[in-house]
Amino acid sequence: MNDFKYDDIKSNLNRDQILDRMHDTLSDFRYTHCLRVEKVSRGLAAEFGGDVERAGLAGLLHDYAKERSDEEFIDVIKRKNLDPELLNYNNAIWHGIVGAEIIKDELGIYDEDVLNAIRRHTVGATTMTQVDKCVFVGDFIEPERDFPGIKTARAYAEKSLDSAVAYELKHSIQHLVEKNREIYPATFISYNYWITKGDL
Ligand SMILES: [Fe+2]
Ligand SMILES: [Fe+2]
Repeated sequence: MNDFKYDDIKSNLNRDQILDRMHDTLSDFRYTHCLRVEKVSRGLAAEFGGDVERAGLAGLLHDYAKERSDEEFIDVIKRKNLDPELLNYNNAIWHGIVGAEIIKDELGIYDEDVLNAIRRHTVGATTMTQVDKCVFVGDFIEPERDFPGIKTARAYAEKSLDSAVAYELKHSIQHLVEKNREIYPATFISYNYWITKGDL
């Protein structure tokens, strides 16, 4: 697992150096989750014809910023003049969209395919590349995930990435409603798009 080729992706860091950074900033739980998502994302990309290296790197880094403080995210949103609307949300949204900015700054990764998959892993998007889908689904079905519906999610992921994306969005919205949690509007937009594309 140490000889992944990130040359095309132009990070100055190799995989071991990236892992060191992650170790420093993430709990063991989150760190190992990221490694599992990397593996599943690579597998999905190989299976469904996506860019394996980019899917793997985005899977590895998707939660890179998840354990940063709210203050840090707010500072990045303001400093980089990101959409001020983001200030109305929280870590659940920030760690993807704002996390991509932190990854640029700290890891020197500017590959937009990788960064978009990280940005989109929280709420999806109407435009999703194969890499985006692999990370989005990989995060949902990695081997340690256990929730009602996980078997169905994994079964869809064996047949069709689009169906797995649609199922994940439907499941996430249902879950948020049941927990009386707020739903980011982009999640609905993603759901409305993908529910007609997947075969559920
Ligand atoms: Fe995440
Ligand atoms: Fe995750």
